[in-house]
Amino acid sequence: MSTLDAAFDILQCPSCGEPLSAADGGASCANRHHFDRARQGYLSLRAAHKGKGAPATGDTPEMLEARERFQAEGFHDDIRAAVLAAVPADARGWLADLGGGTGWHAASVLDARPELHGVVLDASAPAVRIAARAHERLAGVSADVWTGVPLRDASVDVVLRIFAPGAAGEVRRILAPGGTAVFAVPHADHMRELGHGLKLMKVPAGKAEEVAASIPDATLVSSVEVRQRVQLSVEQALDAVFMGPNAFHQDRAKVEKVLLEWQAPISVTIAVTVVALRLEA
Ligand SMILES: C[S@@+](CC[C@H](N)C(=O)[O-])C[C@H]1O[C@@H](n2cnc3c(N)ncnc32)[C@H](O)[C@@H]1O
Ligand SMILES: [Zn+2]
Repeated sequence: MSTLDAAFDILQCPSCGEPLSAADGGASCANRHHFDRARQGYLSLRAAHKGKGAPATGDTPEMLEARERFQAEGFHDDIRAAVLAAVPADARGWLADLGGGTGWHAASVLDARPELHGVVLDASAPAVRIAARAHERLAGVSADVWTGVPLRDASVDVVLRIFAPGAAGEVRRILAPGGTAVFAVPHADHMRELGHGLKLMKVPAGKAEEVAASIPDATLVSSVEVRQRVQLSVEQALDAVFMGPNAFHQDRAKVEKVLLEWQAPISVTIAVTVVALRLEA
């Protein structure tokens, strides 16, 4: 059985919250809401859009490529290690990676925790297409986690939310008793050097404290700060800018012009806190 087929044990309808089961090459619920399974092996669980503005579409292929290059260069290795260390050594059952992108973190956890199966939920269809192939025990689901996470109550043993959005109430709802939620949140000075001369989005201060307190009935297990300075080429600095939401607001040629005026290597601060919360068993 594929991991996506097995995931029907935990998936629920994004429109009405009823359990989903496999049907007609896709998925449907008792209220006959139907969702398609893409040829590339992921499931599209997008409910009719009710919120203000445009529905979330997530990262573009160019952003994903920039992030994949940046991760492959090793700049997020210490963050990945801290995320893995926050997952209990005996974790079993299901892992959900909210805004999990291409599944880079989920795959590393699944490699080290052979009793876990995982699902990446991300608004970006190109991201979940890659995630669905990132690990044999990993499924990909495209979903807008702001409008609700299409997973059943108390069905997940490990939740990851790494540099990604998602309401704490939904994390709490899907966590099983004894489950662990792992968040990675940037500090206000994360990559601050790249903001010099460029009008990049600012990271608000106090986000780590906010997530640590975000599930009132969970216990704070650990809060680990990953802080280092990395030396980037202009190309790598461009990837650092364009792998995140700045890509939606910045002109690549203008940013490149500014970065080329700086002396490479460009010294940049990585400052991220990895927080683990656990529910009572
Ligand atoms: C900064 S990336 C982090 C990706 C991944 N967690 C990692 O660290 O490699 C943020 C991710 O959140 C996704 N995203 C943004 N808004 C979303 C939403 N409303 N619902 C689901 N995913 C969303 C983006 O598509 C992107 O993959
Ligand atoms: Zn339904």
